[in-house]
Parts: sequence; structure tokens; C-alpha cells
Amino acid sequence: MLGIDLFSGCGGMALGFQMAGVKIDRAYEFWDEAIKCYEKNFQHPIKKADLSKFEFFADEISCLNPDIIFGGPPCQDFSQAGNRREGNNADLTIAYAEIISRVKPKWYVMENVDRSRKSSAYTNARKIFKKAGYGVTEIVLDASLCGAPQKRKRFFSIGLINANDGFLNHSLEKNLSKVPMTIRSFFNGNFEIEYYYRHPRNYNRRGIFSIDEPSPTIRGVNRPVPAGYPGHPNDPVIAAGVRELSTLERALVQTFPKSFIFPSESKTINEQLIGNAVPVKLAEYVAKAVMNYHLSEKCPEEKEQLILNL
Ligand SMILES: C[S@@+](CC[C@H](N)C(=O)[O-])C[C@H]1O[C@@H](n2cnc3c(N)ncnc32)[C@H](O)[C@@H]1O
Repeated sequence: MLGIDLFSGCGGMALGFQMAGVKIDRAYEFWDEAIKCYEKNFQHPIKKADLSKFEFFADEISCLNPDIIFGGPPCQDFSQAGNRREGNNADLTIAYAEIISRVKPKWYVMENVDRSRKSSAYTNARKIFKKAGYGVTEIVLDASLCGAPQKRKRFFSIGLINANDGFLNHSLEKNLSKVPMTIRSFFNGNFEIEYYYRHPRNYNRRGIFSIDEPSPTIRGVNRPVPAGYPGHPNDPVIAAGVRELSTLERALVQTFPKSFIFPSESKTINEQLIGNAVPVKLAEYVAKAVMNYHLSEKCPEEKEQLILNL
């Protein structure tokens, strides 16, 4: 299955799709630091592109004739961490849908924060997908039930041309773990610390977490325990002596392999790239459901050929 990666970031989603057997032809991204990181980790090319100019890129991508387009348009407009620049980023959700409707790959997968599902941008994007002839599966997945040690809920809109709405729900739900993945079990006990600090949005929430639970969402910023941290009744231990996760630990919790390179000398940039990414294992979980469905539709000879190509 030949894929195109839009709004690729450093490539969390790309790596998961690649691990599930999608052959990525090309990625598109706007931010130089993300491009540099992506280039270090993948063989296929990445192109610098402002995808708000979707007409141009839709024509270019059409010539590549992909089977699947996947990507997560930027989400600040929808997420709690957002800076309230309503509009611009939501427009990129529409740009994504416009590219899909013009290229018309057999499949698309769009990822975003869970609240984006109720946004007017997604409502409009959905109309574009439907008008282009896609059956749409919409699901919020918790990464900790899909093989990643992190409670990160993400919305996926998955389209297959001429299918019924909800066509992939069963496949996506049947393999969900019954038990959330903890950091201890994911790393088989090989994790340096027992407790760590994750700066809460406000002090009504706790800041200390145990490795015997999934981590909370890895965000784009990381802070040590501030002098003024008041503690919280649900903290499993007091904050004294507890540190924040390191950049490497955060990448590993996002299920990047140790070999994945974050080349920037700036910790802030690497943290941002890591926090923006789809956990690799979550992306792989979704892509495997897509691949299995795709294979199940094929005749035996085609299936054999596809498996040989994986
Ligand atoms: C949520 S992140 C994608 C993360 C990625 N899917 C991953 O798993 O690593 C969204 C990306 O969109 C990029 N972006 C923002 N505006 C863009 C634009 N106009 N054109 C292309 N990319 C853009 C950002 O630089 C950011 O890397």
C-alpha cells in the first residue's frame, strides 16, 4: 500500500504506518526543524510545503497516485493547550479534506485531539469526505489500550471509498487491550525511576505520577517541579526528590524506538516535536487495522503479492 504523509511533524505517525507495512512515498511538512528530524529517520523524501495552498499540492500528490493519505493537521485550535488562535489551524483541517477530495486515494486517515470531533472545522471536513464518496469510521482511541504506556486520547477519522460509515469500527475495537499499559510493564521494569513530575495545567490537578500507571499525555513542554508546587492529595508520593521525565524518556513513552534521532541541539524543539507526535504504537495499531481490512478485500493472488511486498 503506497502512502503519503501530510503534516508529518517528526514522523511518529509515519513510523507507525511504516511498521504496519505502508510504503511511504513522500511526506509534506512546513516546519524546518520537523523536516530535519524526519530526514534523519526515514529513507523516503520529505518536502517543505505550506499545505494551506492545497490546490497546488493536491495536483502534485494526484500524480503520485497513493493508495492512502494519512496525517494529523495541527491541533492547537481544538486542544486545551492551545493559544486560542482560532481559525488558521482549523482551516488546515479543511485543507486536508480538500486534498483528499481532489486526490481521491482509496483510503485516508486523519488524526487529531479528541475534542476536534465536535468542531465546526471537522463537521465541514466530514461533509467534504462524504461528498467525495468516502465511507467514514470515526473513533476516539486511548493510546494506553493500543500498546503505548500513555493515556492519550486521539480522534481518528478513517475513510474508505464507497464503504459504509463505521466500516472499520469492529476491527479497531476488537483488538483493544482490556488493561491500560503501564510504564513499568511497557519497559519490563527497566525504567530508572518509580515516580515523576508532569506539570499540571493548574494545581487542582496532580503533578506526580507512578510508573505503575500509564503516563498522562506527553505535551510539547516539559518542566521540572517548580518551587511553588503545592502538592496534591492524589500525588502518590511527596514532590521532594521527584524529577520530570527526561527528553529521551518522553520519546520512549511516545513509543519512539531508542534509535530514533532527534537532531536539534535545542531541548525545547525536541520536546515540541515529541509532544506533537502520534505515539508510534497508536499509529501502528490503526494502520494494522487498515492493512488487515485492505488485505481482506483482496483476492488470494493480490494478497500474496501485497504480503511479499511488506
Ligand atoms: C500535530 S503535528 C503532526 C505530528 C505528526 N503526525 C507526528 O506523528 O509526528 C502537526 C504538524 O503540522 C505542521 N504544520 C503546521 N502548519 C502547516 C502548514 N501550513 N503546512 C504544512 N505543515 C504544517 C506543524 O509544523 C506540525 O509539525
